[in-house]
Amino acid sequence: MSPQATFLVLGATGGTGKHFVSEVLADGHRVRALVRTPGKLAAGPNLEIVHGSVTDPLDTDALVAGVDYVVCMLGDRKLQEKTRINAAFVERLIPSMRRHGVKRFLYQAGGFSRPYGRRLSPILWLLRNTLARSYDGQHRDNEAVMAYLATEATDIEWCVHRAGIGSDGPSKGVLERSKSKISIGTHMDCANYNYRTVMDPAAIHSSDFSRYRLE
Ligand SMILES: NC(=O)c1ccc[n+]([C@@H]2O[C@H](COP(=O)([O-])OP(=O)(O)OC[C@H]3O[C@@H](n4cnc5c(N)ncnc54)[C@H](OP(=O)(O)O)[C@@H]3O)[C@@H](O)[C@H]2O)c1
Repeated sequence: MSPQATFLVLGATGGTGKHFVSEVLADGHRVRALVRTPGKLAAGPNLEIVHGSVTDPLDTDALVAGVDYVVCMLGDRKLQEKTRINAAFVERLIPSMRRHGVKRFLYQAGGFSRPYGRRLSPILWLLRNTLARSYDGQHRDNEAVMAYLATEATDIEWCVHRAGIGSDGPSKGVLERSKSKISIGTHMDCANYNYRTVMDPAAIHSSDFSRYRLE
């Protein structure tokens, strides 16, 4: 096992986050999770639960103190139609990370979210504006986060996972970073990808898709 590390997990009770927490704890690491409903997580010796919402006036310095990695798998589609809750929170979190010397940050966005300064391919643009139209607020919020990271947080070792998620079913394989191809993965596989990718120096400042490894 790699040395014990501490992960701050945002979105720990969500589709991806719950698998992320299970895998990291099973590997013997520690998790600090900010959650709105503590009862959704089973207590355990290496799990520290902080009760709260990212929309609260939180002490973000206390959240990041002593942490090695920050992994953000937040989403609230309804609220994100009106408000950039993720971007507002990330803009408070990053300065706290700086003050505490916490460098590594992974943010899970979507395949239809456009990285800063780049365009979506015509097919992704079309799907985003038709089939995935109801997620537009979430993508705009993800894009605000990516713009902030690319322009205001180049000193932080961030990476963005532009995930495609189809189900909460069992694993379909191992996801890898890809600049051009996206797979429709499971929450579990995306969680495993996030775990490996946040610790991978080669992923720093990337905003890639995830794609199943071809066996
Ligand atoms: N699901 C997909 O199909 C999909 C596909 C591609 C990309 N993505 C991206 O991945 C992100 C995560 O997706 P997911 O499906 O794993 O998420 P999810 O199942 O919708 O879970 C979202 C998580 O965020 C938490 N959360 C929401 N608002 C919060 C708040 N104000 N304070 C604290 N926690 C809050 C939720 O907590 P509660 O349990 O309290 O609600 C939950 O743990 C999405 O935002 C999206 O950008 C998702």
